[in-house]
Amino acid sequence: MGNSIAVCPGSFDPVTNGHIDIIKRALVVFDRVIVAVLKNSSKTGMFDFDERLDMLRTVFGDNDRIEIDFFDGLLVDYMKKKKIKVIAKGLRAISDFEVEFQMALMNREVDLEIETVFLVPSVKYSFVSSRFVKEIYRMGGELKDIVPEIVDRKLKEKFQSIK
Ligand code: PNS
Repeated sequence: MGNSIAVCPGSFDPVTNGHIDIIKRALVVFDRVIVAVLKNSSKTGMFDFDERLDMLRTVFGDNDRIEIDFFDGLLVDYMKKKKIKVIAKGLRAISDFEVEFQMALMNREVDLEIETVFLVPSVKYSFVSSRFVKEIYRMGGELKDIVPEIVDRKLKEKFQSIK
């Protein structure tokens, strides 16, 4: 195994099969992937930070090419600390392109050495977003083909306790 490595950053609130698809695709290109969860987001999440990490660990726990980690503050600072140069992200649709392109260029503005690569998701997941997953569960729906089992269970628990 070589030494190439990329960071897949995100809020993962919660992790979906769309994220999993992109992380698996990143493993086709890179030897190792660090899944980096943003700790203090200005967005108020549905799952707290420990829950988001736990769900990721349940999903990826047995894969020694994947590390689950977190960061606080700027992504480029985390990458500098870890001595990693590549961010790998998925682009679902044209609508993602604009914001992802901005982020890639802003990150490069802060650190010239950082490269961002975009991976193409499976068509099956190209419409999936954590935001709408939460909305559907909140309103009593379920998406067993779209989220891992642990996430399906956690979402149901979460909304049962709210009701
Ligand atoms: O899953 P998300 O919410 O789309 O992920 C966005 C994330 C966490 C990758 C992005 O918001 C981020 O990197 N935040 C950390 C703060 C930072 O570096 N901001 C500069 C962005 S140009």
